[in-house]
Amino acid sequence: MHLVISVCLATFTGFSRAASAPSQLYSPLVAQKLLTTAQSVPNNPIQYPQYTSSDNGQWQYFPADYWTTGFLPASCYAMYTRFNSLCPNSSAANEFLELGRSLSTGEVPLEAYTTVGHDVGFLSFPFVDEAAVDKSNQTATTAVNTFATLLADRFNPIVGCTRSWDTSDPTNFQVIIDNMMNLQVLFDSEALTGNTTLRNIAMSHADKTMQNHVRPDGSSYHLVEYNSTTGAVIWRGTVQGYADNSTWTRGQAWGIYGFANSLCHDLDLIVAVYRNTQQTRYLDTSRQMASFYISQIPSDGIVPWDFNAPLDPPRPADSSAAMIATVGLLMLSQQEASLSPSNTSGAEYWNNAAIKLLSDNTEFAWKPEWQSLLSNGTVNNRDSPPNNLTGITYGDYYFVEAGNQLISMGLASCSSSNSTSPAPSSSQSPHHTSGAVRARRLWW
Ligand code: GLY
Repeated sequence: MHLVISVCLATFTGFSRAASAPSQLYSPLVAQKLLTTAQSVPNNPIQYPQYTSSDNGQWQYFPADYWTTGFLPASCYAMYTRFNSLCPNSSAANEFLELGRSLSTGEVPLEAYTTVGHDVGFLSFPFVDEAAVDKSNQTATTAVNTFATLLADRFNPIVGCTRSWDTSDPTNFQVIIDNMMNLQVLFDSEALTGNTTLRNIAMSHADKTMQNHVRPDGSSYHLVEYNSTTGAVIWRGTVQGYADNSTWTRGQAWGIYGFANSLCHDLDLIVAVYRNTQQTRYLDTSRQMASFYISQIPSDGIVPWDFNAPLDPPRPADSSAAMIATVGLLMLSQQEASLSPSNTSGAEYWNNAAIKLLSDNTEFAWKPEWQSLLSNGTVNNRDSPPNNLTGITYGDYYFVEAGNQLISMGLASCSSSNSTSPAPSSSQSPHHTSGAVRARRLWW
């Protein structure tokens, strides 16, 4: 465990700042809107915001049994972190901590029954946060361990992966690139229980995803179907992207983040680092996916929902994919700096790319008059009608995380908020494009 700490926890300062963080990141509106949203969720039973309407920016609420439920409580914990340690304000910190705690209680019944499949990892976020605040909180540690067990139970050793989606034909074993994000709960539970099987499952899943989802040019398939009895790949394609051979932008972002995150847990790599040798398969994969992502960003800087979607008819953007990729690039940067402290150029490159991506897409999607922080997210452009041009709870969550990470890394300061006018005009109408790291981990 000490090796893990040494490789993945470092202080990162001194990077040059070619681009600057958008001032909206620390606008007072961020706290105001999140407080209002968190205090206004329908109760009895509790419901959670998932996305907004595309015309008036009002949150649409859903019962707890959705993959997105943890993001509002996790956003409250992220704001707690901001006000507790990054930009101290004890009353705001306490208010957000209490809201994170009360909102996460609605997830507890999901430990006994949930239909979210692999997405129990996302559900675990607020409990991981709570366990980092209060290690003695049994509700939190039980939730993390229970969600990890539910994910581990979906592991098929022949395929080498955890099953993402359930299918009517159990031989059809479906794995989506998004599943990389859910591996974190396995590592977190290992840290609590010492159960190394959980790590082995996660690493096996990451290895298979690296082999079968990531194309040679660093782009990715959304969905790979395996035969559950032979382990053979039977189909590759998409469900949420434009086409089977296209790259769905949010999936690519999940991959950048997921592989950079898996690095921290790769014992072979950690041993290799101490031997001063190279063993960097997840680093290489995250780099490759990040390079592809950056190479596909159109000249206006705004990421479309799928990099290969045609320009005509105009394609909607996905601000959530931009926010997830931003935090993934910042995590990749931190891994570069951690693995090779004398070589700052790699880390700096990803930092600059992250900040530009964040700035361009925040300027574009920031929406003061909506309940969400951002607009122009695409939930699923393949829905009928397409669900796009909305605010999205995970887009807002990764926006807050990006703000926290930049402060932690010495790349932005809380004082940015003082110079931010509270309501920068948001002239953009719903747009069609032209062309941290989770800061709190149980194993830290
Ligand atoms: N994990 C589902 C999505 O990103 O839409």
